[in-house]
Amino acid sequence: MPCDEKVAPMKAAVVKESAPGERRVALVPEAIPKLRDAGLEVLVETGAGDGAWFPASAYADAGATIVSQDELYADADVILTVTRPDAAQLARLRAGQAVIGMLAPLIDPGLARELASRGVTAISLDGLPRTLSRAQGMDALTSQANVAGYKAALVAAEAYGRFFPLLITAAGTARPAKLLVLGTGVAGLQAIGTARRLGAQVSGYDVRPASKGEVESLGAAFLELTSVANAAGEGGYARELTAEERDAQQAELAGHIARHDVVITTAQVPGRKPPLLVTDDAVKQMAAGSVIVDMGASALGGNVAGSRPGETVVTGHGVTIIGAQNLPSTVPTAASNAYSRNISALLLHLTKDGALAIDTGDEIQAGVVITRDGEVVNPAVAKLLDQ
Ligand code: NAI
Repeated sequence: MPCDEKVAPMKAAVVKESAPGERRVALVPEAIPKLRDAGLEVLVETGAGDGAWFPASAYADAGATIVSQDELYADADVILTVTRPDAAQLARLRAGQAVIGMLAPLIDPGLARELASRGVTAISLDGLPRTLSRAQGMDALTSQANVAGYKAALVAAEAYGRFFPLLITAAGTARPAKLLVLGTGVAGLQAIGTARRLGAQVSGYDVRPASKGEVESLGAAFLELTSVANAAGEGGYARELTAEERDAQQAELAGHIARHDVVITTAQVPGRKPPLLVTDDAVKQMAAGSVIVDMGASALGGNVAGSRPGETVVTGHGVTIIGAQNLPSTVPTAASNAYSRNISALLLHLTKDGALAIDTGDEIQAGVVITRDGEVVNPAVAKLLDQ
């Protein structure tokens, strides 16, 4: 190629999310000038930002081109998304395109196989090495868990039939709500902070001893159990409990749960179904009017017996169990702002001289690049596919 010939700029395209009820958008207008400065052209599908209150005019003013879905799939080099593409979107992706989003390949490795077979480069933000300090600006799991934890406290407050704070009024004194957060990672700590700001009397519990100091630094009490001393696993995550530990934990927790008005559960163990922390028996011991928000609720089962994802169940004796689902999407502007910073930082990290420069020798890329040149290259995902 003659050296004075201009290379067409890489086109990064923002899709309108397709998952039912999903209101987030991968990129907000504020992010566009920086991407353009890096030599990228930004395409935005019509209506992509509507659910998060970012109108097409704001994207256009920031320098993006608004396109139809047909134009987007025809022209894009890199497709930016929040959640995984649905079957219709998948069918439109073509060889040579890249897709960046929270693709959850460890939950559905079949998607990675499909993307590889289509010659699509798949890059998943949930594979990021989270403890690497230079990757923190790209950590979408953390940014979205923060939003979810905040909203979980509000959802609990809304469902609770009393006040969270101590209120002394001419009509009487209301005692503060006693609230317990089980699982004090990113979401749990944010739920604690939010519930404290609302005036609740808050306790937190986790199987990782390191979380004690974090809970206490937020002004909450740390609940110590005698049955499980330490279940810290690899990479700052928890390990799965043994059956004996689990039974002992459930039995010991039940007594504490019964003393609380509101329980928020967030417990997760990587690659496993969420641990059951609140048994049927524990729910039965709670007083009428108590509220449980299960952030671990999933089709596989959650942290709470009887919770159903996306549904609110009221037990026969008056305990409300909320199966939280996609809480970040219910705070769509804040969640999108944060996600947009994460995905922009990753996209810029992957871009060299205005084009994608994949190098899995880089620690960040080794985590996030899932498929490339028709192969599933991420070892953890490839291992799951081999099983
Ligand atoms: P997560 O979503 O995997 O799990 C939520 C919480 O549930 C964790 O705190 C976990 O210990 C707890 N848990 C699991 N099983 C439990 C059980 N049986 N009983 C009670 N609690 C249980 O965790 P998340 O929020 O993604 O964070 C995990 C860790 O990663 C934390 O240590 C966090 O501080 C760390 N982290 C570090 C970052 C960094 O260094 N930049 C960034 C993000 C997270």
